[in-house]
Formats: sequence, C-alpha cells, structure tokens
Amino acid sequence: MMDGIAHGYDVARIRQDFPILSQGVRGRPLVFLDSGASAQKPRQVMDAMRACMETAYANVHRGAYHLSELATENHEAAREAVRRFLNAARAEEIVFAGSSTNAINLVAHSFGRGVLKAGQRVLVSEMEHHANLIPWHMLRDSGLGIGMGVIRVTDAGELDLDSLRAELAKGDVGLVAVTHMSNVLGTVTPAAAIARMAHEAGARVLFDGSQAAVHRRVDVQALDADFYVFTGHKLYGPTGIGVLYAKHELLKAMPPFLGGGDMINTVTMDGFTWAEPPLRFEAGTPPIIEAQGLKAAVEYVEAIGMEAIEAHERRLVEHAMRVLPEVEGLSILGAAQDRGGVFSFALDAAHPHDLSTFLDSRGICIRAGRHCAEPLHARLGHEGGSARASFGLYTTEGEVDALAGALREARRFFA
Ligand SMILES: Cc1ncc(COP(=O)(O)O)c(C=O)c1O
Repeated sequence: MMDGIAHGYDVARIRQDFPILSQGVRGRPLVFLDSGASAQKPRQVMDAMRACMETAYANVHRGAYHLSELATENHEAAREAVRRFLNAARAEEIVFAGSSTNAINLVAHSFGRGVLKAGQRVLVSEMEHHANLIPWHMLRDSGLGIGMGVIRVTDAGELDLDSLRAELAKGDVGLVAVTHMSNVLGTVTPAAAIARMAHEAGARVLFDGSQAAVHRRVDVQALDADFYVFTGHKLYGPTGIGVLYAKHELLKAMPPFLGGGDMINTVTMDGFTWAEPPLRFEAGTPPIIEAQGLKAAVEYVEAIGMEAIEAHERRLVEHAMRVLPEVEGLSILGAAQDRGGVFSFALDAAHPHDLSTFLDSRGICIRAGRHCAEPLHARLGHEGGSARASFGLYTTEGEVDALAGALREARRFFA
C-alpha cells in the first residue's frame, strides 16, 4: 500500500506524522479519502496546541502581565504565519474567523451591507459550496436592494468565462464571489483571470479558497484577490478557526459584523467607536489555541513545500484518471483541464450512501451525498448526489488502487 519515496516525496515518512493513519478500521488498514471534508492532523499541530495550553496560555490583547503578553505575541505570530502563507502585504489584512463559512458571512454582512449599494449584484457560480451561496441569498433577501447573478458552469465542470463576461457587461456587479477549487469536481478556477475581468468591470472579487489553499500555493497579491478565505481544519489544522484575507483599504471601509470585546476603541453607555482592522472584525475571545494549531499547520505544509504537495497530488490525480475510468459502470463528474485531488462519481449499481457503507466495510472512508453543493448536482443531472473521494498530502497511489478495487467489488455485490 505504501508508495515509498517517489519523485523525492517521501509519503511513507509523511504518514508517520499522522497518528490516526496507522490505525485499522474494521480489521483493515484505514484508507482515508475524505480529506476534502476535513483533513487529518499531524503530530506537530497537536504538539503546538498542547504547548500553548501547557506553557503560554492566557487571554490575548488584554492582560498586562507576562503570560498574557506572551500569548498575545504568539497569537500575532500566528497571524504573521498566515500572512506569509498567503503572501499578503501586511498582517492587518488577516482576520481570524471561526471557519470559511464564518469568514464569508462576515464579508456578506459587513461588505455586503456596509459597502455594496442598492441596485448592485453579487455574482456566484453554479459550483459554489453552500457556504459561498447562502450568505448571498440572505443578503439578497434582506431588503437592501442587492441582487444576485449566476455564472454558469460548462458540461466539463469548468467556470464558463463567457457567462461571467456577459454578467459583468450588465454593469451592475459589485462583487464576484467564486470558488478557487470546487469541492465536488476538483476544478481549479482561473482566479487571476477572473479577478482581472471583475476589476475591469469595477467589481471586487472574493475567492473561496477552502479547497484550493490546501492543494496549491496561493499568492493573494499575484491573484489580485480582494477577499480570500480558507478554513483551518482542511489544511491539517484544527477546527474552529478560519481566515479572511482582505485588502487593507477594504477592511478600513467595512463596518464591524459582530459586536463585543476587542473590536472597540472606546465605549460609553451611549455608543462605541470601532477598532482598526483586523481587531474590528474579531469580537470576543479569539481562537487562541486554534491559532497556534493553524500556525503549526501552515509551517508543516511550508516545510514539505506547497509545490511538492501539488506535484504529489497531480501524480495521484493522473493515477486516479487512469484507474478509476477502468471501473465498469463508474461515471466521474466533470472533466476539467485543471483539477485537484477531488473526484465525485456515481456507480450505476449502487446509491452513493450504499456505496459509502460498502466501502466503509473495507476500511475506506469516502463522502456520499451532495457535498453541500446541491445546485451543482442539479446542474450536472445528479440530483440524487454522488460519492466523493478526496486526497490529501498523505494519500498514496496504493490507496487509489484500493478504492478502485473496492468499487469493482461493490459493483459485483450490488449488481
Ligand atoms: C469549497 C468549500 N467552501 C466552504 C466550505 C466550508 O468550510 P467550513 O465548514 O470549514 O466553514 C467547504 C467545506 O466543505 C468547502 O469545501
């Protein structure tokens, strides 16, 4: 099952950092192919969170004593690590949110209500995760006169740039909010081109990088992204922390979303004044321990190298594209030219849920359902959902082979 050292990428060595991967499930080796939903954690992340609690824990930004100052320093070091990871121009452009979902809701409330104007529209694509769809529905339905428009997806599962162009040409788009990588199809969208098109039309652009930031090097300055979000738990970090990157000039213009401690300058019984970004958007006690876990996760992937991770995953994708189509009765959703390690598929003989249960009996974890992307499943004619295998930096070709073998077995079993 181990692929050993191929192309200088020592996947067997990397797997040793993830204690959970060495355990068995139902008497078989665990084959974890659901990293797109949430990734497993390396020991380095656990150690960093433990060290925070054992040696440097106190509330941040408030205590005038050594331990709180140390915790604050470490918290701001985590922000700096994320800045470096995204190549943001300054640390003040990094806002810690609870998740990608929280980060997008923050933008929808704050930028959506405070900066967008009545009569403007937000464009979203047909392949968005619900996290980058529902907040915009809620904004549209809030009675402020802000509309929505749809960017179509081609049959191959790529963003239809002609459709984007046509929508932008209407001249009323305030924000384009699109995924940087589909959590269903693995499609990587041409983010720099999308940003250019949006900016030429006078619109801002938000990228949902929940999947992309895990698999590709992201440079928000090179992309010229106005907003970029990702979530810690998919990047081998903890749950409970996500990141909103936004250009400083935008954050300066945005009102706060949540009110409470830490986001103010002064408070009287009559009112308050806002703090500068990023604290303006971080009301309440932040995810202090999780930030240390996220910092360790960022340092972990940087130590392996995002280019090396991407190259490893490209080999896995190529391998999967060789072995999965050979499984009789299997259809893979989408056929994008540029895709990452996420495959959704349907097997003629079995409902996705039954398939998932069957694979579980073989120790293989996949996702079944609509993967929080109902409109995309409807668009592709898979209203009933699909099964999904998603890869991480620890996935091996042997695991892809195990999936293909179990799918063949499942077809015989259900036929
Ligand atoms: C593309 C995409 N966007 C957003 C999310 C939401 O992430 P979270 O649940 O961490 O907020 C996910 C998670 O599945 C995702 O895949």
